[in-house]
Amino acid sequence: MSDQLRLTLRPLAESDEAFYVALYSDELTMRFVAAPLSPSAALASFRAAIRRRCRHIAALEGQPRVLLSADRRGAWLEIGLMLLPAHWGHRLATRAFALWLSEPPIASAPLLIRTAEENVAMRKLAERHGFARADSAESLARYVRLPV
Ligand SMILES: CC(C)(COP(=O)(O)OP(=O)(O)OC[C@H]1O[C@@H](n2cnc3c(N)ncnc32)[C@H](O)[C@@H]1OP(=O)(O)O)[C@@H](O)C(=O)NCCC(=O)NCCS
Repeated sequence: MSDQLRLTLRPLAESDEAFYVALYSDELTMRFVAAPLSPSAALASFRAAIRRRCRHIAALEGQPRVLLSADRRGAWLEIGLMLLPAHWGHRLATRAFALWLSEPPIASAPLLIRTAEENVAMRKLAERHGFARADSAESLARYVRLPV
């Protein structure tokens, strides 16, 4: 279905507020991420993300669908993706991830993904996009990818 529709990447913008707040306050979306935020905490997080310029959006035919995060963790750039449950399972994350990984600065950075063992979809995304499973001292699965 979504394969024929145009997916484009852009930085997080003011117009994404409702999408961002919906993601961070949704219990199912946040199941493997953290406790869901209250709407006011999600709004504060949105304002901080706009200031820090550390989030991107993959938009399907202009509609925000995937939130892409990139946060510095020492030498690594820790990355993640979030979609609302209504859009899961249509390969949107697969398409958005492939696009994003080909763009600077993501393409040239040492990348880290940490996710719950039970988050099979996220672990598959990492494995399908050239990430290698790494040892982890914490309970989360850890994947890394070095620039080629
Ligand atoms: C993880 C997430 C981004 C995946 O998005 P998506 O668009 O549904 O993923 P895709 O449709 O591109 O599928 C990716 C792979 O996972 C598989 N998959 C999707 N949902 C799955 C599920 N519930 N269980 C097992 N595998 C699943 C797909 O079959 C595909 O595997 P394949 O390449 O072998 O065919 C989405 O579920 C999400 O936003 N979850 C909540 C936020 C989150 O946990 N983010 C990760 C934080 S590190």
